[in-house]
Amino acid sequence: MLIRQLFDPESSTYTYLVADRSARAAALIDPVREHVDRDLALVRELGLTLTHVLDTHVHADHVTGAGRLRELTGALTCAGKAGAACVDLHLGHGDVVRVGDLPITALLTPGHTDDGVSYLVSGAVFTGDTLLIRGCGRADFQNGDAGQLYDSITGRLFALADETIVYPGHDYRGQTSSTIGEEKRWNPRLAGRDRAGFIALMSGLNLPPPKKLAEAVPANRACGVVA
Ligand SMILES: [Fe+2]
Repeated sequence: MLIRQLFDPESSTYTYLVADRSARAAALIDPVREHVDRDLALVRELGLTLTHVLDTHVHADHVTGAGRLRELTGALTCAGKAGAACVDLHLGHGDVVRVGDLPITALLTPGHTDDGVSYLVSGAVFTGDTLLIRGCGRADFQNGDAGQLYDSITGRLFALADETIVYPGHDYRGQTSSTIGEEKRWNPRLAGRDRAGFIALMSGLNLPPPKKLAEAVPANRACGVVA
């Protein structure tokens, strides 16, 4: 297996290339539209074929590259079952996508948004904005729900083995990965906090709206392909 982490400095978004080297098949998780050429150049340079594009949710802070990548390569676009209607495959909890011989398992993790999904691949989990390093996504728009977010993190992500590597959808402080065990112990939003305490904390964040909310959400409902 090969994992590469790519970065969009404007929105602090991580895109991941996940590949089965022997089958030469690759998936991109959470691609950013402005970086489609960069990501495809890497796929090509590594001698891979892009077979799948997976989004963790309908993003509010950047426009997905999924639709453009599908146009350019014929890759299948995937999201959770409540994800954008334009994707090819809507995944339920436990559904498996095969990239070459590499199984990628969808774990439905709503709460940041109602369509959130995490992707589990051989000892690593790509958590989108559900679980960030020492943080988590906000739950105050796009049908977000702090109680549901708590249940997704504690019931689904924290149920994974402690050594599972966490690859988040963003980081704003230069961190690149973590582990489930580390987040259980050190994530300040969750460690030592019960469901009611988490909901109270999240409802008091008073965050400004994301800069690209008005542009990004409608564009992402169309897989990023807009006139
Ligand atoms: Fe998000």
